[in-house]
Amino acid sequence: MAKLSPSILSADFMHLGEQVKQLEQGGADYIHFDVMDGSFVPNISFGAPVLKSLTGKTSLPFDIHLMIEHPEDRIPDFVTPQTAFITFHHEACRHVHRTIQLIKSFGIGAGIAINPGTPAALLEPVFEDLDLVLVMAVNPGFGGQTFIESSFRKIKVLNAMREELNPNLLLALDGGVKLTNAARIAEAGIDIIDAGSAVLNAEDIAQTVKDFKALIR
Ligand code: DX5
Ligand code: ZN
Repeated sequence: MAKLSPSILSADFMHLGEQVKQLEQGGADYIHFDVMDGSFVPNISFGAPVLKSLTGKTSLPFDIHLMIEHPEDRIPDFVTPQTAFITFHHEACRHVHRTIQLIKSFGIGAGIAINPGTPAALLEPVFEDLDLVLVMAVNPGFGGQTFIESSFRKIKVLNAMREELNPNLLLALDGGVKLTNAARIAEAGIDIIDAGSAVLNAEDIAQTVKDFKALIR
């Protein structure tokens, strides 16, 4: 059964607390935080203050997706008692191995995200050290983009790598997830499905989380 990690990038920030309650009511497994710096990706979102305002206010664990240059300089900002994973981009980091160790030193799961144009094979040298690999099924920067079909080929490669090198590793996928493709993504072997606009822009957020969960069980 796959887990659901709704992204609050598509939230109405005027009503963030209420919308997070609706995610809880629906049975979401994590909150996905999309941190964007306007440099690694062509958009600026939010930073650690948003995490701080939700810390202790929700029971959901935090799943942090850093789309920022030099993520190694910013890791401590995203350490909270609720942080389950910190995921940074391979393309944005010069010291991948060191950054994984830094995240793990806080007792937090370490993840690497790869863009649609980045091959999975690049992760081979650090595969045993990782807790999570995040497959980007869109080019990062914005919610509401179209799912890139070749992501399924990458999932296949990553499934084979994990079987051989790190059976406990979790595979996550982010971008373009809808009620219409979620079941196929879960069946392909993804453990954590990130979904932004399809959940947060829905009429009934709690019900939409339930609908997703029913599809990916
Ligand atoms: C994209 C972000 C995603 C985004 C997904 O850069 O990393 O997490 O919120 O949005 P949807 O689900 O709308 O494609
Ligand atoms: Zn994301």
